[in-house]
Amino acid sequence: MVANVSRYVPFFLFLALSAIVFLLRNIHTLEKWNCFQTVSTLSQWHNSLSTALRQHLALLHPEHNQTYCAHLGQEPSVEEALEERYLQQSIAWPEPAVPGLPLRQSSDPSRSYFVIQPSAECSDLSGWEVGGQLEVMVHMQNFLGKAKRHGGDFLLARLHSQELGAGVAGRVVDHRDGLYSVVFPLLWAGPAQVEVTLVHSSEAVAALRRLREERPDRVYFKSQYRSGFLSETTMCNLCLPANQQPLCNYTDPHTGEPWYCYKPKMLDCDTRIDHAKGGYKKHLLTTTESMLFMSSTIKAPIKAVGMEAITVLPTTESRTDWLKTPPSGYYYQGSWRPLTGVHMQQFKSPSSVVQCLKGKMVYMYGDSTVRQWFEYLNAFVPELKEFNLHSLKNVGPFLAVDSDHNIMLHYRCHGPPIRFSTVPTSELRYVFNELDGLPGGGDTVVVLSVWSHFSTFPVEVYVRRLRHIRRAVVRLLDRAPGTLVVVRSANPQKLDPEVSLYNSDWFSAQLDAVLRAMFKGLNVLLVDAWEMTLAHQHPHLLHPPEDIVRNMIDLFLSHVCPVKKKKKKKN
Ligand SMILES: *[C@@H]1O[C@H](CO)[C@@H](O)[C@H](O)[C@H]1NC(C)=O
Ligand SMILES: *[C@@H]1O[C@H](CO)[C@@H](O)[C@H](O)[C@H]1NC(C)=O
Repeated sequence: MVANVSRYVPFFLFLALSAIVFLLRNIHTLEKWNCFQTVSTLSQWHNSLSTALRQHLALLHPEHNQTYCAHLGQEPSVEEALEERYLQQSIAWPEPAVPGLPLRQSSDPSRSYFVIQPSAECSDLSGWEVGGQLEVMVHMQNFLGKAKRHGGDFLLARLHSQELGAGVAGRVVDHRDGLYSVVFPLLWAGPAQVEVTLVHSSEAVAALRRLREERPDRVYFKSQYRSGFLSETTMCNLCLPANQQPLCNYTDPHTGEPWYCYKPKMLDCDTRIDHAKGGYKKHLLTTTESMLFMSSTIKAPIKAVGMEAITVLPTTESRTDWLKTPPSGYYYQGSWRPLTGVHMQQFKSPSSVVQCLKGKMVYMYGDSTVRQWFEYLNAFVPELKEFNLHSLKNVGPFLAVDSDHNIMLHYRCHGPPIRFSTVPTSELRYVFNELDGLPGGGDTVVVLSVWSHFSTFPVEVYVRRLRHIRRAVVRLLDRAPGTLVVVRSANPQKLDPEVSLYNSDWFSAQLDAVLRAMFKGLNVLLVDAWEMTLAHQHPHLLHPPEDIVRNMIDLFLSHVCPVKKKKKKKN
């Protein structure tokens, strides 16, 4: 057999050589046929080879860490550094007591349990009233059935009633000894069932934290360069090792927001024609770490010992025990009821939306979670006609108008790091620069949603971006105080072992806390997509189902055209 094959080797060699000679001789002709693809494919192939090599080098290099990422941006000022320190402290997450514990000592959702605590009034399992609160104690145990002795597990909880279409998010307090309290405000009379979910064990969170700090390159980007018949594609990111290959520096001149690509071999940096998601790096975890991301331990339910549901009685007096830390709202009969002072209206008909948006220009900037708002309104309101800008599907920009009522809806994606398929360079804009270009005023509504594409980077990257956006928002509100600015928060999503490494709710929750802190005190409306998704009976999805989006839109419109007699309360 071996001898047989080797007889043909010279023949195959000859064939291969002729193919290469043919290809090289014809490459010129191919170009003339307008066949960019060939050169591009060849250079992509070359690039993926050198990329693989670079990754290897980068792993060996000590600067492959957080520090190399930070030094490509501008040094923060003293105030910025202070703010960042405060923000970092506010999202501090308990570190594991002993790093690298084996799986059997990590938190096991199926051996953990929760217990409903007796009500304050009756010191037994009854006597809950609307306006009071329900407390639940969660006991975390490892795979050996032993109680955990440290904190850091990422838990989510909600109280709900399927038949009433009611739900509210719980507040989780980590006692850092394996016990967690969850507190729910009691907002409706009738049945209320507790649901506690372990999103990730503390050990899994430690692995995510490591990825966040050490592997900001785990989602990578690429850009195509083109001039005449030449086309090349190179890798891009917020931070690239500077000492390996010449870089193209696309740092934003106004803010110093960094962005780099490897310089193409033949073309100049200013021939970049687009930006796109490159892909997701694999094999990020050690063997021990990857055991912590089994499907059965991600977003796994924690069972009750004893009762898992209570009956809430109508209140006999006006009680609001829970008002110290109120949630932003709750669902009742499928409708969101905000607790933030706004009078919630429902916009059930397209004409009610038209009435509300009459004369308004609505600018939506950000990721696909706000594009969803554009899509919802555009589909719901027949009077809104989408103007064909010949944009790429899902990328935008998008424009819809109702010229009879002078309504304009506009969507544009945020700047890099945006993980969209292909954004032309001409459409690649930072939100802060777009905001600076808006006159603003009472007819202008701005909606921002910038979070999901930052989950693979250290938190300081997000802080820096939000800081620049916040400054632009402040400038906008200063020059045109009538402008309504709406910020859509992050939301939990569907997770599996793979998605967790790039988009885990833990990353999102940390970014979301930063977002809230950074816009606090400003005259902007926060639409709490986090709680609106968490409190709802629908499963978590990156793009929440229409029932949830409708509620977000209703909340949004309730601010655009508030009911006159109720006074709007600032948060
Ligand atoms: C990160 O890189 C810097 C130099 O670029 C080095 O001084 C530091 O020790 C590195 N940190 C880690 C944790 O490897
Ligand atoms: C990129 O340009 C910015 C200013 O435009 C500069 O501050 C930064 O140092 C440059 N980066 C590199 C790696 O040269």
